[in-house]
Amino acid sequence: MSKVPLVTFNNGLKIPIFGLGTWKSQPGQVTQAVKDAIDIGYRHIDCAYIYGNEKEVGKALDTKFQQGVIKREDIFVTSKLWNTFHKPDKLWNTFHKPELVEGTLRETLKNLRLEYLDLYLIHWPQAYKEQGELFPKDEQGNTQFSDVDYIDTWKVLENFVAKGLIKSVGLSNFNKRQIERILKNATVKPANLQIECHPYLNQKRLINYCKTVGITITAYSPLGSPDRPWAKPGEPLLMEDNKLKDLAVKYKKKLKDLAVKYKKTPAQVLLRIQENFNIFDFELKPEDIDYIDTFDCNERLCPMTASLGHPHHPFENDKF
Ligand SMILES: NC(=O)c1ccc[n+]([C@@H]2O[C@H](COP(=O)([O-])OP(=O)(O)OC[C@H]3O[C@@H](n4cnc5c(N)ncnc54)[C@H](OP(=O)(O)O)[C@@H]3O)[C@@H](O)[C@H]2O)c1
Repeated sequence: MSKVPLVTFNNGLKIPIFGLGTWKSQPGQVTQAVKDAIDIGYRHIDCAYIYGNEKEVGKALDTKFQQGVIKREDIFVTSKLWNTFHKPDKLWNTFHKPELVEGTLRETLKNLRLEYLDLYLIHWPQAYKEQGELFPKDEQGNTQFSDVDYIDTWKVLENFVAKGLIKSVGLSNFNKRQIERILKNATVKPANLQIECHPYLNQKRLINYCKTVGITITAYSPLGSPDRPWAKPGEPLLMEDNKLKDLAVKYKKKLKDLAVKYKKTPAQVLLRIQENFNIFDFELKPEDIDYIDTFDCNERLCPMTASLGHPHHPFENDKF
């Protein structure tokens, strides 16, 4: 049995509170990483079509099923619907449009070698031009948008629950206003919202709002995503950034000291901030969580600047 505690969705299904992310995990390495993670006790794997490595993740899952280490129901697998579609299949001539979504989901399932996903998220609210590149650009280098409304996409995803292709459906990178629109139009309520969340962007207001409407949160980039591809020299490094060190000095207490106090590494301490989660063998004291909350500086590491100007861009005109 894995030691990872579970969080219950509004539909009664459960998600392990702590998972393995697969973004930037290279196809040549991710199979081994997922196999190792399962052996260690991870029971939640976060995938996405856009990560380009779902086939390799599927290989690892299949190996662990074959070896009898886990059964399908023992592991929670998430994937995400991408904003556009890359595959040169002429039948799939639109994406984020109802008739295309199922084809894309089925491709993800095939790659992951699964019959169903535990959670399928709309990766971003803004759709891009269908067909062609995953980040379609015009001659000026601007991202090409699609006018599909995420409400219409959501209505298609809801059907997949009834069809048995997914157990739960959720959102990623949606703001409060967009979630309210989904809730007004939904038959199936979103179970989960996956958002960037770490001490520099603690997302208190959005998390509090989600609590009031019964939507659980998955925090992404909890360590500050130091290897994000667009990071420029001099940009904040959560685990080492000068601002963090200055704050630590101001409070005469270094993050490292917290880690020592709990006999954990700084990275392990940071992970525990998101949900006040009481996992494994320690729990941060409320005053330490309050202390770490003071690091918030609205520092968004995944701002998706490539689609600024899109009418559904989640971060451009809304405060949270
Ligand atoms: N929904 C979305 O739009 C979205 C966006 C971004 C991310 N995500 C999901 O969230 C996952 C995690 O986010 P992320 O990759 O952006 O950022 P992250 O988890 O904050 O940071 C990952 C980086 O931290 C390093 N790291 C991990 N454990 C460490 C430790 N104990 N000590 C020091 N460094 C450590 C990793 O290095 P190593 O690789 O060497 O371990 C990697 O460079 C992704 O894999 C993806 O599944 C979702």
